[in-house]
Amino acid sequence: MRKNIIVFGGDGFCGWPTSLHISACGYNVTIVDNLVRRKTDIELECESLTPITPIGTRIEVWKKMTSKNIGYHYMNVAEDYEGLLALFKKLKPIAIVHFAEQRAAPYSMKSPSHKRYTVNNNINATSNILCSIVESGVDCHVVHLGTMGVYGYGTAGMKIPEGYLKVKVGGDSQKIKMLYPPNPGSIYHMTKCQDAIMFYYYNKNDDIRITDLHQGIVWGTNTPDTMLDERLVNRFDYDGDYGTVLNRFLMQAAVGHPLTVHGTGGQTRAFIHIQDTVKCVRLAIENPPRHGKRVRIFNQAAESYNIKDLAQKVNELVGAEIRYYKNPRKEDAENTLQFQNEGFKSLGWEPITLNTNLMKEVSDIALKYGERCDKRKIICTSLWNKDNELDYIGSKEEVI
Ligand SMILES: NC(=O)c1ccc[n+]([C@@H]2O[C@H](COP(=O)([O-])OP(=O)(O)OC[C@H]3O[C@@H](n4cnc5c(N)ncnc54)[C@H](O)[C@@H]3O)[C@@H](O)[C@H]2O)c1
Repeated sequence: MRKNIIVFGGDGFCGWPTSLHISACGYNVTIVDNLVRRKTDIELECESLTPITPIGTRIEVWKKMTSKNIGYHYMNVAEDYEGLLALFKKLKPIAIVHFAEQRAAPYSMKSPSHKRYTVNNNINATSNILCSIVESGVDCHVVHLGTMGVYGYGTAGMKIPEGYLKVKVGGDSQKIKMLYPPNPGSIYHMTKCQDAIMFYYYNKNDDIRITDLHQGIVWGTNTPDTMLDERLVNRFDYDGDYGTVLNRFLMQAAVGHPLTVHGTGGQTRAFIHIQDTVKCVRLAIENPPRHGKRVRIFNQAAESYNIKDLAQKVNELVGAEIRYYKNPRKEDAENTLQFQNEGFKSLGWEPITLNTNLMKEVSDIALKYGERCDKRKIICTSLWNKDNELDYIGSKEEVI
């Protein structure tokens, strides 16, 4: 039985622990990554808080610890179509996991060139992967990491469904299911909405089996696999472009920086722990949709939290000053968010919810590597439009 799986973007924050988990579960994993995320560290002059080792060392140490091989190809999937095609023909994977996109909303909004790079990279990566699957003739299940952000953050008073909205048309006489209306809040989110249209098309036209995972904001750092050896440590982004909010708050508290709440902190977002990310991706791989079925969409998120409440929780756990900064984004100051996540639960997923032990674990990592933090990189300096203002100082009061 062939059990090859390609993980595109397997050197990244979600991709690395997922590659290890899938490898540990007995699949032959090949990582494809052009290391652009590491190069972006150089551009932004800010490294992962955790000292990540080179990809070659990571793979070598994994082999030493587990006797399992992980293959690696340095390749830009947005540009090297022929290389990609050859790889599909050679490996004939049963599934691929597609993480290989520019994934930070603030980075995508930094400048016209960052906007254009994000569009070119993300759209071409997805397009090349889908096109090369068709051309190679390989029957392979595509598992893609999308985001809860494609729905926008207004819920019209209902739980956001898993990808499709039931609507009544023709004076209520006919019911249809349509893709939930896309409502991107940044160029990055816009590319994820466009990915969804490409999936819809390739599934309809070429019967490619696709699972699109609308993931919440990921928190946490390590998984049992990355903890086997310090050289397997996962990356920890804390800067204003790539850092995700809960990890940022825990790190800020650890280094004595005020917690950087934007606006009123009334924004509600969906969250998932990194250990659940890897589990969910494996569950998706092991339960592919059947041929002839439309694109399957799961909401890969455990629970939602209001940013102010999150800051309060961090304050209660480790003690921290909370400060409110002018919001660099164009977004609603406050929103509620409810969503369905029955898809994964029906496959046996029991979500990890925010808990003191796991928050403490992140905080301990932040304390351990705190001296690597460059505090000048903490504030988000990427502005959504000309009406937004940089705010390095913040205030004790909510910014309306
Ligand atoms: N981190 C989160 O909180 C989060 C939340 C929701 C969704 N996601 C999605 O999960 C995916 C992975 O996110 P992440 O946090 O691991 O990001 P990341 O930036 O850490 O990892 C992405 C990896 O893809 C690689 N890559 C990017 N473009 C490539 C290209 N053209 N060719 C080859 N490799 C390329 C990068 O070098 C990097 O290693 C993204 O698509 C993102 O949209 C992440």
